[in-house]
Amino acid sequence: MTDTLTLVRPDDWHLHLRDGERLAAVVGHSARQFARAIVMPNLTPPVTTVAAAQRYRERILDALPGDNDFGPLMTLYLTDETSAQEIDRAAASDHVYACKLYPAGATTNSDAGVTDIRRCDDALARMAEHGMPLLVHGEVTDDVVDIFEREAQFIDRVLAPLCERVPALRVVFEHVTTKAAVQFVESLPGRLAATITPQHLLLTRNDLLAGGLRPHHYCLPVLKTFEDRDALITAATSGSAQFFLGTDSAPHARHEKESDCGCAGTYSAHAAIELYAEAFDRAGALDKLEGFASLHGPGFYRLPVNRDTITLTRQNWTVPASFPFAGNELVPLGAGTDLAWKMV
Ligand code: NCD
Ligand code: ZN
Repeated sequence: MTDTLTLVRPDDWHLHLRDGERLAAVVGHSARQFARAIVMPNLTPPVTTVAAAQRYRERILDALPGDNDFGPLMTLYLTDETSAQEIDRAAASDHVYACKLYPAGATTNSDAGVTDIRRCDDALARMAEHGMPLLVHGEVTDDVVDIFEREAQFIDRVLAPLCERVPALRVVFEHVTTKAAVQFVESLPGRLAATITPQHLLLTRNDLLAGGLRPHHYCLPVLKTFEDRDALITAATSGSAQFFLGTDSAPHARHEKESDCGCAGTYSAHAAIELYAEAFDRAGALDKLEGFASLHGPGFYRLPVNRDTITLTRQNWTVPASFPFAGNELVPLGAGTDLAWKMV
Protein backbone atom coordinates (compact mmCIF):
# COMPACT_ATOMS: atom_id res chain seq x y z
CA MET A 1 0.00 0.00 0.00
CA THR A 2 1.33 3.45 -0.93
CA ASP A 3 1.83 5.62 2.14
CA THR A 4 3.39 8.70 0.58
CA LEU A 5 2.31 10.53 -2.50
CA THR A 6 4.38 13.25 -4.13
CA LEU A 7 2.69 15.32 -6.82
CA VAL A 8 3.63 18.25 -8.98
CA ARG A 9 2.06 21.17 -7.06
CA PRO A 10 -1.61 21.32 -8.12
CA ASP A 11 -3.73 24.31 -9.20
CA ASP A 12 -7.41 24.99 -8.49
CA TRP A 13 -9.18 25.77 -11.77
CA HIS A 14 -12.42 27.02 -10.12
CA LEU A 15 -12.34 28.94 -6.85
CA HIS A 16 -14.50 31.51 -5.03
CA LEU A 17 -12.33 33.74 -2.82
CA ARG A 18 -14.91 36.44 -1.94
CA ASP A 19 -13.59 39.85 -0.85
CA GLY A 20 -12.58 41.95 2.17
CA GLU A 21 -12.42 40.18 5.52
CA ARG A 22 -13.92 37.02 4.04
CA LEU A 23 -11.16 36.86 1.44
CA ALA A 24 -8.55 37.26 4.20
CA ALA A 25 -10.18 34.41 6.16
CA VAL A 26 -10.01 31.83 3.34
CA VAL A 27 -7.21 32.62 0.89
CA GLY A 28 -4.50 31.01 3.04
CA HIS A 29 -6.23 27.64 2.78
CA SER A 30 -5.94 27.61 -1.01
CA ALA A 31 -2.44 29.09 -1.03
CA ARG A 32 -1.21 26.32 1.28
CA GLN A 33 -1.84 23.69 -1.39
CA PHE A 34 -2.21 25.31 -4.78
CA ALA A 35 0.24 27.34 -6.85
CA ARG A 36 -2.50 29.09 -8.84
CA ALA A 37 -6.26 29.34 -8.98
CA ILE A 38 -8.81 30.50 -11.51
CA VAL A 39 -10.70 33.04 -9.40
CA MET A 40 -14.44 33.38 -9.94
CA PRO A 41 -15.75 36.91 -10.58
CA ASN A 42 -19.17 36.65 -8.86
CA LEU A 43 -18.63 39.42 -6.32
CA THR A 44 -21.22 42.14 -5.67
CA PRO A 45 -20.88 44.03 -7.92
CA PRO A 46 -19.47 41.42 -10.32
CA VAL A 47 -16.00 41.71 -11.84
CA THR A 48 -16.95 42.65 -15.41
CA THR A 49 -13.91 44.63 -16.58
CA VAL A 50 -10.18 44.08 -16.84
CA ALA A 51 -9.62 47.10 -14.59
CA ALA A 52 -11.86 45.61 -11.88
CA ALA A 53 -10.15 42.21 -12.23
CA GLN A 54 -6.75 43.85 -11.77
CA ARG A 55 -7.92 45.65 -8.62
CA TYR A 56 -9.42 42.41 -7.26
CA ARG A 57 -6.14 40.60 -7.96
CA GLU A 58 -4.26 43.21 -5.93
CA ARG A 59 -6.65 42.73 -3.01
CA ILE A 60 -6.07 38.96 -3.18
CA LEU A 61 -2.29 39.40 -3.19
CA ASP A 62 -2.55 41.81 -0.24
CA ALA A 63 -4.62 39.28 1.72
CA LEU A 64 -2.09 36.45 1.30
CA PRO A 65 -0.35 35.34 4.48
CA GLY A 66 3.47 35.68 4.74
CA ASP A 67 5.68 35.42 1.67
CA ASN A 68 3.36 33.13 -0.26
CA ASP A 69 3.68 33.25 -4.06
CA PHE A 70 0.16 32.01 -4.86
CA GLY A 71 -0.93 33.23 -8.29
CA PRO A 72 -4.54 34.37 -8.78
CA LEU A 73 -5.64 33.87 -12.40
CA MET A 74 -8.46 36.33 -12.98
CA THR A 75 -11.71 35.94 -14.91
CA LEU A 76 -14.34 38.34 -16.21
CA TYR A 77 -18.03 37.96 -15.47
CA LEU A 78 -19.81 37.88 -18.81
CA THR A 79 -22.96 40.01 -19.16
CA ASP A 80 -25.29 40.85 -22.04
CA GLU A 81 -23.21 44.04 -22.41
CA THR A 82 -19.67 42.61 -22.46
CA SER A 83 -18.02 44.19 -25.50
CA ALA A 84 -15.55 42.72 -27.97
CA GLN A 85 -13.20 45.55 -26.94
CA GLU A 86 -13.24 44.36 -23.32
CA ILE A 87 -12.29 40.89 -24.57
CA ASP A 88 -9.38 42.42 -26.50
CA ARG A 89 -8.26 44.20 -23.32
CA ALA A 90 -8.54 40.92 -21.40
CA ALA A 91 -6.49 39.04 -23.98
CA ALA A 92 -3.83 41.75 -23.91
CA SER A 93 -3.67 41.86 -20.10
CA ASP A 94 -1.23 39.80 -18.05
CA HIS A 95 -3.77 38.60 -15.53
CA VAL A 96 -7.12 37.74 -17.14
CA TYR A 97 -7.38 34.17 -18.41
CA ALA A 98 -11.03 33.48 -19.14
CA CYS A 99 -14.64 34.73 -19.02
CA LYS A 100 -17.33 33.12 -16.90
CA LEU A 101 -20.88 32.58 -18.10
CA TYR A 102 -23.47 32.64 -15.34
CA PRO A 103 -26.95 32.24 -16.79
CA ALA A 104 -28.89 35.05 -15.00
CA GLY A 105 -30.36 33.69 -11.78
CA ALA A 106 -28.58 30.31 -11.89
CA THR A 107 -26.64 30.58 -8.64
CA THR A 108 -25.09 32.82 -5.94
CA ASN A 109 -24.55 36.39 -7.27
CA SER A 110 -25.65 35.61 -10.81
CA ASP A 111 -28.38 38.25 -11.10
CA ALA A 112 -26.24 40.31 -13.48
CA GLY A 113 -25.51 37.24 -15.60
CA VAL A 114 -26.38 36.51 -19.21
CA THR A 115 -30.08 36.47 -20.13
CA ASP A 116 -29.54 34.94 -23.58
CA ILE A 117 -26.19 33.61 -24.74
CA ARG A 118 -26.80 34.89 -28.29
CA ARG A 119 -26.47 38.43 -26.90
CA CYS A 120 -22.81 37.56 -26.25
CA ASP A 121 -22.01 36.38 -29.76
CA ASP A 122 -19.63 39.29 -30.50
CA ALA A 123 -17.70 38.76 -27.30
CA LEU A 124 -17.64 34.99 -27.80
CA ALA A 125 -16.36 35.28 -31.36
CA ARG A 126 -13.57 37.51 -30.11
CA MET A 127 -12.73 35.04 -27.32
CA ALA A 128 -12.51 32.27 -29.92
CA GLU A 129 -10.08 34.40 -31.95
CA HIS A 130 -7.89 34.92 -28.91
CA GLY A 131 -8.12 31.27 -27.79
CA MET A 132 -9.54 32.51 -24.47
CA PRO A 133 -11.62 29.85 -22.69
CA LEU A 134 -15.28 30.39 -21.81
CA LEU A 135 -16.08 28.93 -18.39
CA VAL A 136 -19.71 27.93 -18.06
CA HIS A 137 -22.03 27.43 -15.12
CA GLY A 138 -24.05 24.82 -17.00
CA GLU A 139 -27.60 25.00 -15.71
CA VAL A 140 -30.77 26.39 -17.27
CA THR A 141 -32.73 28.71 -15.02
CA ASP A 142 -36.23 27.97 -16.31
CA ASP A 143 -38.53 27.70 -13.27
CA VAL A 144 -40.41 24.74 -14.70
CA VAL A 145 -37.27 22.61 -15.22
CA ASP A 146 -36.61 20.22 -12.35
CA ILE A 147 -33.47 21.21 -10.43
CA PHE A 148 -31.92 17.78 -10.98
CA GLU A 149 -32.42 18.15 -14.77
CA ARG A 150 -31.01 21.65 -15.19
CA GLU A 151 -27.51 20.59 -16.23
CA ALA A 152 -28.71 18.06 -18.80
CA GLN A 153 -31.16 20.61 -20.22
CA PHE A 154 -28.38 23.21 -20.44
CA ILE A 155 -26.41 20.88 -22.72
CA ASP A 156 -29.32 20.49 -25.14
CA ARG A 157 -30.63 24.04 -25.06
CA VAL A 158 -27.47 26.15 -24.68
CA LEU A 159 -24.12 24.39 -24.79
CA ALA A 160 -24.50 22.08 -27.78
CA PRO A 161 -25.96 24.86 -29.99
CA LEU A 162 -23.20 27.24 -28.79
CA CYS A 163 -20.46 24.74 -29.67
CA GLU A 164 -22.00 24.43 -33.13
CA ARG A 165 -22.38 28.19 -33.64
CA VAL A 166 -18.83 29.05 -32.48
CA PRO A 167 -16.78 25.96 -33.28
CA ALA A 168 -13.45 27.62 -32.46
CA LEU A 169 -14.54 28.54 -28.92
CA ARG A 170 -12.73 26.62 -26.17
CA VAL A 171 -15.03 25.85 -23.25
CA VAL A 172 -14.63 24.59 -19.69
CA PHE A 173 -17.86 23.01 -18.50
CA GLU A 174 -17.44 23.90 -14.83
CA HIS A 175 -18.28 21.56 -11.95
CA VAL A 176 -19.92 18.83 -14.04
CA THR A 177 -22.31 16.73 -11.99
CA THR A 178 -23.96 14.29 -14.39
CA LYS A 179 -23.19 11.34 -16.62
CA ALA A 180 -24.77 13.34 -19.46
CA ALA A 181 -22.24 16.15 -18.98
CA VAL A 182 -19.30 13.73 -18.92
CA GLN A 183 -20.50 12.18 -22.18
CA PHE A 184 -20.98 15.56 -23.82
CA VAL A 185 -17.47 16.70 -22.83
CA GLU A 186 -16.00 13.49 -24.20
CA SER A 187 -17.81 14.03 -27.50
CA LEU A 188 -15.80 17.23 -28.18
CA PRO A 189 -12.15 16.49 -27.38
CA GLY A 190 -9.72 19.36 -27.83
CA ARG A 191 -12.44 22.02 -27.54
CA LEU A 192 -14.18 21.08 -24.35
CA ALA A 193 -12.87 20.31 -20.88
CA ALA A 194 -14.52 20.04 -17.47
CA THR A 195 -13.72 20.64 -13.82
CA ILE A 196 -14.99 18.29 -11.12
CA THR A 197 -15.43 19.24 -7.44
CA PRO A 198 -14.50 17.08 -4.44
CA GLN A 199 -18.09 17.02 -3.17
CA HIS A 200 -19.43 15.66 -6.46
CA LEU A 201 -16.82 12.86 -6.36
CA LEU A 202 -17.52 11.99 -2.71
CA LEU A 203 -21.25 12.61 -2.20
CA THR A 204 -24.65 12.01 -3.77
CA ARG A 205 -27.99 13.69 -3.21
CA ASN A 206 -28.58 11.21 -0.39
CA ASP A 207 -25.88 13.08 1.54
CA LEU A 208 -27.98 16.21 1.08
CA LEU A 209 -31.47 14.84 1.67
CA ALA A 210 -31.58 11.35 3.25
CA GLY A 211 -31.88 11.05 7.03
CA GLY A 212 -32.10 14.82 7.46
CA LEU A 213 -31.41 17.95 5.44
CA ARG A 214 -27.69 18.82 5.32
CA PRO A 215 -27.39 22.47 4.27
CA HIS A 216 -23.58 22.38 4.12
CA HIS A 217 -23.88 19.83 1.31
CA TYR A 218 -26.12 22.16 -0.67
CA CYS A 219 -24.30 23.61 -3.65
CA LEU A 220 -25.12 24.29 -7.28
CA PRO A 221 -25.29 22.34 -9.43
CA VAL A 222 -26.96 20.23 -6.76
CA LEU A 223 -25.57 16.78 -5.85
CA LYS A 224 -26.90 14.04 -8.12
CA THR A 225 -27.43 10.24 -8.20
CA PHE A 226 -25.04 7.36 -7.53
CA GLU A 227 -24.88 6.68 -11.27
CA ASP A 228 -23.86 10.29 -11.93
CA ARG A 229 -21.30 10.24 -9.13
CA ASP A 230 -19.79 7.05 -10.52
CA ALA A 231 -19.55 8.57 -14.01
CA LEU A 232 -17.65 11.53 -12.51
CA ILE A 233 -15.26 9.21 -10.67
CA THR A 234 -14.64 7.25 -13.85
CA ALA A 235 -13.95 10.46 -15.80
CA ALA A 236 -11.68 11.98 -13.14
CA THR A 237 -9.64 8.79 -12.76
CA SER A 238 -9.58 7.91 -16.48
CA GLY A 239 -6.39 9.82 -17.20
CA SER A 240 -8.24 11.89 -19.82
CA ALA A 241 -6.75 15.36 -20.13
CA GLN A 242 -10.28 16.75 -20.58
CA PHE A 243 -11.00 16.49 -16.84
CA PHE A 244 -9.22 18.45 -14.13
CA LEU A 245 -9.41 19.77 -10.59
CA GLY A 246 -11.69 22.71 -9.78
CA THR A 247 -12.95 22.79 -6.21
CA ASP A 248 -15.75 25.34 -6.60
CA SER A 249 -14.94 26.03 -2.96
CA ALA A 250 -17.63 28.60 -2.12
CA PRO A 251 -17.59 29.93 1.46
CA HIS A 252 -20.77 31.16 3.14
CA ALA A 253 -21.22 31.93 6.83
CA ARG A 254 -22.89 29.23 8.91
CA HIS A 255 -26.06 31.27 9.46
CA GLU A 256 -26.42 31.87 5.70
CA LYS A 257 -26.42 28.11 5.10
CA GLU A 258 -28.42 27.01 8.15
CA SER A 259 -31.40 29.14 7.26
CA ASP A 260 -34.96 28.82 5.94
CA CYS A 261 -33.50 29.84 2.56
CA GLY A 262 -29.90 28.66 2.67
CA CYS A 263 -27.20 29.78 0.23
CA ALA A 264 -25.72 27.40 -2.32
CA GLY A 265 -22.03 26.67 -1.90
CA THR A 266 -19.77 24.09 -0.25
CA TYR A 267 -16.46 25.09 1.30
CA SER A 268 -13.60 22.71 0.51
CA ALA A 269 -10.44 24.84 0.30
CA HIS A 270 -9.32 23.85 3.82
CA ALA A 271 -8.54 20.29 2.67
CA ALA A 272 -9.07 20.27 -1.07
CA ILE A 273 -6.19 18.06 -2.18
CA GLU A 274 -6.78 15.72 0.77
CA LEU A 275 -10.47 15.38 -0.18
CA TYR A 276 -9.56 14.56 -3.79
CA ALA A 277 -6.95 12.05 -2.53
CA GLU A 278 -9.73 10.41 -0.52
CA ALA A 279 -11.91 10.06 -3.63
CA PHE A 280 -9.09 8.77 -5.84
CA ASP A 281 -7.94 6.33 -3.12
CA ARG A 282 -11.47 4.93 -2.79
CA ALA A 283 -11.46 4.38 -6.56
CA GLY A 284 -8.04 2.65 -6.37
CA ALA A 285 -6.66 5.34 -8.68
CA LEU A 286 -4.15 7.38 -6.68
CA ASP A 287 -1.77 7.07 -9.63
CA LYS A 288 -4.18 9.24 -11.66
CA LEU A 289 -4.39 12.08 -9.13
CA GLU A 290 -1.36 14.00 -10.39
CA GLY A 291 -2.67 14.25 -13.96
CA PHE A 292 -6.07 15.44 -12.76
CA ALA A 293 -4.75 17.86 -10.12
CA SER A 294 -1.54 19.18 -11.64
CA LEU A 295 -1.15 18.47 -15.37
CA HIS A 296 -4.43 18.54 -17.31
CA GLY A 297 -5.46 22.05 -16.22
CA PRO A 298 -2.25 23.79 -17.36
CA GLY A 299 -2.52 21.77 -20.56
CA PHE A 300 -5.96 23.16 -21.40
CA TYR A 301 -5.12 26.72 -20.30
CA ARG A 302 -1.79 26.56 -22.21
CA LEU A 303 0.19 27.48 -19.11
CA PRO A 304 3.38 25.95 -17.74
CA VAL A 305 3.15 23.07 -15.29
CA ASN A 306 4.31 24.02 -11.77
CA ARG A 307 7.92 23.19 -10.97
CA ASP A 308 7.71 22.30 -7.29
CA THR A 309 5.90 19.42 -5.60
CA ILE A 310 3.70 18.67 -2.60
CA THR A 311 3.66 15.51 -0.52
CA LEU A 312 0.72 13.73 1.07
CA THR A 313 1.05 10.96 3.65
CA ARG A 314 -1.46 8.35 4.68
CA GLN A 315 -2.34 9.61 8.14
CA ASN A 316 -5.76 9.87 9.75
CA TRP A 317 -6.73 13.35 10.87
CA THR A 318 -9.98 15.05 11.83
CA VAL A 319 -11.32 17.99 9.86
CA PRO A 320 -12.09 20.94 12.18
CA ALA A 321 -15.77 21.54 12.94
CA SER A 322 -15.49 25.15 11.73
CA PHE A 323 -13.13 27.98 10.86
CA PRO A 324 -13.35 31.69 11.81
CA PHE A 325 -14.94 33.67 8.98
CA ALA A 326 -14.90 37.44 9.46
CA GLY A 327 -16.80 37.42 12.75
CA ASN A 328 -18.84 34.39 11.71
CA GLU A 329 -18.21 30.67 11.39
CA LEU A 330 -17.46 28.68 8.25
CA VAL A 331 -18.39 25.00 8.25
CA PRO A 332 -16.12 23.06 5.89
CA LEU A 333 -16.79 19.96 3.82
CA GLY A 334 -16.11 16.93 6.02
CA ALA A 335 -16.40 18.93 9.26
CA GLY A 336 -15.63 16.66 12.23
CA THR A 337 -14.94 13.59 10.08
CA ASP A 338 -11.67 11.74 9.48
CA LEU A 339 -9.65 11.92 6.27
CA ALA A 340 -6.99 9.35 5.38
CA TRP A 341 -4.47 11.62 3.62
CA LYS A 342 -2.71 14.68 4.94
CA MET A 343 -0.53 17.17 3.13
CA VAL A 344 2.82 17.59 4.89
C1 NCD B 1 -21.16 29.41 -5.78
C2 NCD B 1 -21.01 30.61 -4.83
O1 NCD B 1 -21.43 30.51 -3.67
O2 NCD B 1 -20.43 31.62 -5.26
N1 NCD B 1 -22.08 28.47 -5.21
C3 NCD B 1 -22.16 27.16 -5.51
O3 NCD B 1 -23.08 26.49 -5.01
N2 NCD B 1 -21.31 26.55 -6.30
C4 NCD B 1 -21.57 29.88 -7.12
C5 NCD B 1 -21.44 28.80 -8.19
O4 NCD B 1 -20.34 28.44 -8.61
O5 NCD B 1 -22.47 28.27 -8.61
ZN1 ZN C 1 -18.43 28.17 -8.65
